[in-house]
Amino acid sequence: MVGKITLFNAFMSAVSAGTIIWDGRFNETSSADLEKWSFSNPVGSYQYYIHGTGAVTDYVNVDSTYKNPADTGSKQGVKITIDETAKWNGQSMLRTELIPQTSAAINKGKVFYHFSIKTSTDNVPLSTNEHQIAFFESHFTELKYGGQGDNPTHLHWYVSGASKWDVELVADEWHNIAYEIDFDAGSVSLWHSTGSDALTSTAGPVTTSTSSNGADWHLGVLRLPGSNDGTGAEDWYFSGVYVESGDLTTSVNSAGGSVDTAEPGTSSVVVAPSSTAVAPSSTAVTPSSTAVAISTTAAAVVETPVPSSTAAAVVETPVPSSTAAAVETPVTSAIPIATSAPIASSTFVTSIKPATSSTPVAAPVATPTASAGAGSNALPGTFTLNEFISWLQGVN
Ligand SMILES: *[C@@H]1O[C@H](CO)[C@@H](O)[C@H](O)[C@H]1NC(C)=O
Repeated sequence: MVGKITLFNAFMSAVSAGTIIWDGRFNETSSADLEKWSFSNPVGSYQYYIHGTGAVTDYVNVDSTYKNPADTGSKQGVKITIDETAKWNGQSMLRTELIPQTSAAINKGKVFYHFSIKTSTDNVPLSTNEHQIAFFESHFTELKYGGQGDNPTHLHWYVSGASKWDVELVADEWHNIAYEIDFDAGSVSLWHSTGSDALTSTAGPVTTSTSSNGADWHLGVLRLPGSNDGTGAEDWYFSGVYVESGDLTTSVNSAGGSVDTAEPGTSSVVVAPSSTAVAPSSTAVTPSSTAVAISTTAAAVVETPVPSSTAAAVVETPVPSSTAAAVETPVTSAIPIATSAPIASSTFVTSIKPATSSTPVAAPVATPTASAGAGSNALPGTFTLNEFISWLQGVN
């Protein structure tokens, strides 16, 4: 039992999971849904009022191909478009922006604003014009692209008018961003990664005047007029948009992130089937004190301490590398389970809900796969903890 708790704790400490307090992931949202929003009918996750005179599909489109594929927690991403018609309220700027529709405390305490952003080879943004991206009204934290400053072809992180960090913007490379905002301390920091990599602390903290009324964060883009503006559209893609409190989730895979909606008293384990085959594992979790292998990607999200044993705990493992044996971080355990079982890898998203001290908890292991090939005894997509334990015993 001690061994199981040790292993369970190892898994708990190998994940990051805060609480999503506003969820702007585009799972089921359509462009038409966004258009249903108005100040008198504040439906959905976003306020949609800063846009041009065209149809919503001229400016906002959602699709599964518009998201960072590393994020299985978002079904779709959004393509935000500006063109010469995208003028709002008589202004000369081109703007298409979505604003969180929520009464949650996204403007208090310490919170993380998550999103991924990229551009494509189509409708490439004009680097001669300044773009303000994912900004607050008072511009205490935002991204910028283009214009008169240094490195106009780079994506910059700005704090209250000053660039603090920048990176080259390459077509179709996802940049994963979290703004760490401490509204109490008055400071901001930047977390960043590319592709499927876990977020790392990249810049800050910078002391600044952090302020927001909770409805002034603009997901989208505002382009200032330049001296020689061409016509034509520009596209910016966003996905994995949410605001988190508590501990930062560094994994780009937001699946399983909604800790606050966990039902106490349930005990279910959910495995998102992988895109690659279920394969027999070559790595065994062995009796006694041999090391339990955790893949590099799992180890890469070690951030948060162990939640209390009575808390609803969500284990979120990111996508392990599709080929085997990326075993780098051994975690000592004495768990008396030996398995050479087929375990779905690649995308192994596991939720373990209330762990009480009297309940035996077998933490599933995302085992690197040695070869492709069908497992003989695959688990269904959803199963209870008891079913998992039976399955584990059955395949030994
Ligand atoms: C989006 O999907 C994820 C994963 O299925 C889920 O946890 C989350 O609650 C969904 N969010 C919305 C806004 O539908």
